[in-house]
Amino acid sequence: MKVLITGGKGMLGRTLCSELNEFEMVPTDLPEGDITDPAVFEALLAEVKPDAVIHCAAMTAVDKCETEIDLAYKLNAFGTGVVAMACHRQGVRLIAISTDYVFEGSADRPYNEFDAADGGNTVYGKSKFAGEEAVRRHCPDHVICRISWLYGAGGPSFVHTMLKLADGTREELKVVADQTGNPTSCLAVARQLRNILNDRRLAGTFHMTCEGETSWAGFAQEIFRLRKIGQKVVPCRSDEFLRPAPRPANSRLDKMMLRLAGLPPMPHWQEALAEFLEKEFGKV
Ligand SMILES: NC(=O)c1ccc[n+]([C@@H]2O[C@H](COP(=O)([O-])OP(=O)(O)OC[C@H]3O[C@@H](n4cnc5c(N)ncnc54)[C@H](OP(=O)(O)O)[C@@H]3O)[C@@H](O)[C@H]2O)c1
Repeated sequence: MKVLITGGKGMLGRTLCSELNEFEMVPTDLPEGDITDPAVFEALLAEVKPDAVIHCAAMTAVDKCETEIDLAYKLNAFGTGVVAMACHRQGVRLIAISTDYVFEGSADRPYNEFDAADGGNTVYGKSKFAGEEAVRRHCPDHVICRISWLYGAGGPSFVHTMLKLADGTREELKVVADQTGNPTSCLAVARQLRNILNDRRLAGTFHMTCEGETSWAGFAQEIFRLRKIGQKVVPCRSDEFLRPAPRPANSRLDKMMLRLAGLPPMPHWQEALAEFLEKEFGKV
């Protein structure tokens, strides 16, 4: 099976290419794989003739999206529409990567795939949701895969940032404790996408975050525990760290569609984190 990756130089794209190596992976990125140029992307697809596209390319800098609104919509909504229309015209299955930010984040339970999404309160979330809608409208043969709190080889990610900050120069590290989510490893996403790729009949929206939940502070504490780093973490509130884009208080995603489709569950976040840390930074 031949699989074209958009945003192939990004964090998730790189892991997909290294992990799913039983398939013929074709990473594309800027400049040759510009998803915002319909002629360029259509020609690329016709040349590569893949069986599936995994669409990772996006504007992922959540705060920057608040000020560069046109660019956010150009990449996340218009560009995703370009990919969806090209895939449909050329009969290629599309797996599009999306995010927990499509939900506003105030529910008191994890969101499942049947909960209504509207893009929430951020430009990033709204533009990614518009991208999802373009996929649904223009390419019926699709899987939308929502992930969150992502980390992977090479970063950038919360894991890499925490390890950089814990360099011995800070007595304590303030980390937000009033947002909860599912820390998710690119490797775990890649392994679940292998199941999706291998079953041509699957379609629809799937949540694909790791099992279990924690806060950012809990995530940081687990990173330091696993790396045997004696960094003190001081839990704090989101309003002590105001940022241009409000972060969802509840990013937890229920993996109902994996259960309904009889797919294996995602690994627990602590198990996936331990595997990643050892792979990325070696044994401690
Ligand atoms: N990272 C997270 O925490 C997270 C959480 C939930 C969902 N997601 C979703 O997961 C997917 C992958 O995220 P990621 O963290 O791997 O993102 P990433 O590292 O930012 O990678 C995105 C890639 O897309 C490229 N790109 C930008 N504009 C493009 C264009 N016009 N045409 C083709 N490629 C273009 C980027 O190139 P440049 O670097 O040159 O701009 C980059 O290589 C995204 O859809 C994202 O929304 C991520």
